[in-house]
Parts: sequence; C-alpha cells; structure tokens
Amino acid sequence: MDVMSLFPPGSALDADGTLTVAGCRADELAGEFGTPALVVAEPVLRDRAREYAGELAARWPRSRVVFASKAFPCTAVQRVMVEEGLGLDVAGAGEIVTALKAGADPSRIVLHGNAKSDEEIAMAVEHGLGLVVVDNADDVDRLEATVPAGRAQDVLVRVIPGVTAETHAHVLTGQEGSKFGLAPAAATELIRRIERSPRLRMQGLHVHVGSQILDVEPFARSIAPVAALGEFPVYDLGGGLGARYTYADEPPSVGAYLDALTGAAREHLPAGAELIVEPGRSMVASAAATLYRVQTVKRGARTFVAVDGGMGDNLEVALFGQRFEAAIADRVHEPGETVTVVGRHCESGDVLIDGISLPDPRVGDLLAVPVTGAYCFTMANNYNGTRRIPVVFAGEGRARLVVRRESWDDLLARDVG
Ligand SMILES: Cc1ncc(COP(=O)(O)O)c(C=O)c1O
Repeated sequence: MDVMSLFPPGSALDADGTLTVAGCRADELAGEFGTPALVVAEPVLRDRAREYAGELAARWPRSRVVFASKAFPCTAVQRVMVEEGLGLDVAGAGEIVTALKAGADPSRIVLHGNAKSDEEIAMAVEHGLGLVVVDNADDVDRLEATVPAGRAQDVLVRVIPGVTAETHAHVLTGQEGSKFGLAPAAATELIRRIERSPRLRMQGLHVHVGSQILDVEPFARSIAPVAALGEFPVYDLGGGLGARYTYADEPPSVGAYLDALTGAAREHLPAGAELIVEPGRSMVASAAATLYRVQTVKRGARTFVAVDGGMGDNLEVALFGQRFEAAIADRVHEPGETVTVVGRHCESGDVLIDGISLPDPRVGDLLAVPVTGAYCFTMANNYNGTRRIPVVFAGEGRARLVVRRESWDDLLARDVG
C-alpha cells in the first residue's frame, strides 16, 4: 500500500521528503506552473511506447501499434508517440488536426467515430489518412460521395463481437447492442457493399471491447467472432487494457495482454495478416500526476479536504466511479486520518477521493494525485468558469510547459454575444 508505487516510475522523495516526478520537485513545479497542473513524466511515456512496439513486434512481426489519441489528445503526447514510431488513432476532426500538427504521417493515422460528419470524412480523404474505420452504412455513403474518381480509400469495418467485459458500463463497447460498430450480420452485408465499391478498398476488420479491462480473457474472446466474417489483410484489435489506479488493481502486463491477443489471433486469423492494436489508457495513465493546492479543510462528521480543481480536470470519478489515491507532496508517508477529497465545483458529486488517509491536511498543502494521464486532459471543461489546467512535461529534472493554462481571455474568446 505504498502510494509511491502509483506515481510514474522514477518518482521519488527528495532529501527533505518532498515528492519528485521525473526528477522535478512537486513544490517547484507548483511554484513555476501553478496549480492545478497535470505533470507528465516524459521518459515514462516513451518507455511505454517502446514497450508496446517491441512486445507486439516480437509476437507478431507484421503489426503496428497506434496510440489512441483520445486518451491524451495534445500534440506533445501525440508527437512522443510519432517519434517512437507509433501510428495514431484519431476519433474526429480535432484529433486529426492535432495529429497532423504533431507531425504524424497521414498514412499512419486511423480514423474512428460512430457519428462521423461530412467534414471529418472530407478531412480524412483530403489528408490521405491511411485507414477509415467504417462504423455504419452512412460512413460508406459519405466516403463514396467524397473519394475522388480514380482513388480508393482503405477501410476497416467495426464489428461488435458480443463480448461483455468486466468494467464500468459507460466504458463497455463490445457488448451486444453497443452503439459502436455493427453486429456480424449487418457487418457482413456492409462488407459485401464495400467490396463492390470502386471508391473503397476493404482492408479488414476492427474490434474494441471497452476500456479499463483488467483481465486478458475478454480480449482473446473478441477475436473468433471477427474471424468468422472472413479473411482480410488487416485486423485492428482495439485498445482497452486497464491501468493500475489503486493498490488492489492488478492489470495484466503489456506482454501478457499481447500474449492473449496474438495467441487468439494465431488460432483464428490468417497467419499473414497485419495486426493493429490501439492502446490509449494503458499507454498514458500511469505516466502522469495532477498537483492540487488544498484550499480549505472542513472538519465535522466527515473531514472534507477541498482542492483547487476537481471535475473540471478529472471527470473519471464522476463519469464512471474511478478510484484514485493521493499523497500530500511533502508528507507522503506520514500516518493520517480518513478524509474525503473534494473539488471546487458546484456538485456534491464533485468528489475526487472518497475515503483516503492523509496526514493532518492543511490549507496550502500540495496534494498529488497519481495516474491522471488518461482521459483527464481529454475531458477537461470550464465548469464554474474554471480555466482548463496546464500540461507540464517533466524529464531528467527539467520541466517544460506543453499546454498552457487557459486565460480569462480564452474563456471570453468564444463568447461573442
Ligand atoms: C476504437 C477505440 N480504440 C481504442 C480505444 C482506446 O481504449 P483504451 O484507452 O481503453 O486503451 C478506444 C477507447 O474507447 C476506442 O474507442
């Protein structure tokens, strides 16, 4: 139950007991960049990208890892992935824009979306994105209307495998009745149509079971239903591997996850096919921590420790009950009292951590919450007029701002009324 085991690998305590992330002291990061701030250990990101790429190539040489940008869609993170040789999965026009700015080769971008707009399809075709994952027949209508004569867009068809993994219902995607993709019979019909289309090239199938999955079995089980639809050059097996948020979480290693996937692929898929995996959460979650400043401590039947952020910078708790841990940055290992860490937003549901032991929390303390690298930046919002928080890359004792904090002018910029 050592909270240090949840901070990005390489985190430590300085001589005076203050938390350091990638060699940078938490108090100095807070002093330079303010709070709240999302601090990313850049070497950890790079190591994870290399681990994924190496482990997949070792098991299935005709393969590629594409980072699911939605987990942390800023150019600095996407650029790290591109520099490490990964492709990018994008879900919509905004992520195409940042992926291109990050220097991604368009032919290595995979476009997703269950409700793609004309504009998104037009951007995909204009920029020559490598693969468009067709979710529905309307995607095919749009592509046929957009791809110029004489060209053909490579596509995959997203299939619902009918697998219900053990995770929160809000992040489940591969179960029967999912809003994403097509059930096998409908997928078969659409595949036949695509195969007849002069503007589309049927390259393969896509499947994604859900997110924060802590068992390899549902991933393996998702492959046979896809294989039953026929042999194709490419199979994109999605993302979904869980991250370790709490002491009890025991996510499979990347190697164990890929053993399960490639094991099932060897059993069911053509040996010469290309495999794609699309990790998001498991690539970035553990690489980051959020620094908050305690604003008030209210003692009563419960002790509320209220910080200067909350559901404006971390919606994972409110959205699907994700449990986080935390530490006071200069008293990480001191014994504590049980408190509830709450945010500053006008919702009783704005609870960051319900029931955690913190040592004599006081106004002005720096609270560090680990494992905030996935989907926190993604879903940041301006609730109660808060400004979205900055992202700081830390590495080898140096820190640099990669996304600045919003300004009051930013808040007013769109308000043209
Ligand atoms: C199509 C697709 N691929 C990949 C991912 C990434 O999933 P995760 O972040 O759980 O790895 C998602 C996330 O929902 C997704 O919808």
